[in-house]
Amino acid sequence: MEAPQWFPDELARAGDEHLDPEYVRDYDRKAGTDLTGEVALLHDLGLNETHILVDLGAGTGTLALAAAPLCRRLVAVDVSAPMLALLEEKAERLGIENIECVQGGFLSYEHRGEPADFVYSKNALHHLPDFWKALALERISSILRQGGVLRIHDPLFSFDPPEAERIIEAWLASVAEQPEHGWTRPDIEKDIREEFITFSWLLEPMLERASFEIRDARHEARRAYSAYTCIKVR
Ligand SMILES: C[S@@+](CC[C@H](N)C(=O)[O-])C[C@H]1O[C@@H](n2cnc3c(N)ncnc32)[C@H](O)[C@@H]1O
Repeated sequence: MEAPQWFPDELARAGDEHLDPEYVRDYDRKAGTDLTGEVALLHDLGLNETHILVDLGAGTGTLALAAAPLCRRLVAVDVSAPMLALLEEKAERLGIENIECVQGGFLSYEHRGEPADFVYSKNALHHLPDFWKALALERISSILRQGGVLRIHDPLFSFDPPEAERIIEAWLASVAEQPEHGWTRPDIEKDIREEFITFSWLLEPMLERASFEIRDARHEARRAYSAYTCIKVR
């Protein structure tokens, strides 16, 4: 279905670096993500071999590749073709056959088949401004079965506006000094300036309005990152 003219171009807001094959090749090393705890959590939340999991903003597939062996069908969705190309390459190398890669975004992905049991999204929702986040959460809710789980991680500010300068400066002081070791101060400054990181206390009512009950909310000590486990209750 064609999107209305007033819909944003998700590719244009995906972050230029995510569309750059050279940057994407180096993404896993830079991210250094260890999802062992996260996969154990999905297992504890009931993810099993009968289930469908949709990973939105899947990137190079770190979670998708780790979770696919636990479920029946894993749909990895991302707007970036280079990200999905690397994900497919890694899946082939690992002999994982139950991952479907779909090029699409929070606002354009059309789910096919049975409703999803789990939706996962890490470090991607902040690419949308708040109005569009609310619409994206509504779309996520519509693809999940009742009782389904949404697990979401994102940069989120869990402080009040007057604390912004102090907390953001403390965050910037804690990041990698060299690009070889991760994202540096200029990278994070650009993200804060150009992307749409919001407050946790703005996202939470959006989740509730989209028929989610927040079962668990964790805010990092730096107060610049949060993770939620939510259940679709209506
Ligand atoms: C920082 S990466 C995170 C990738 C992966 N989830 C991870 O944790 O390693 C953000 C990803 O979100 C994707 N992205 C950006 N905007 C998006 C959108 N509107 N819909 C879906 N994916 C999007 C980017 O292409 C990129 O792959």
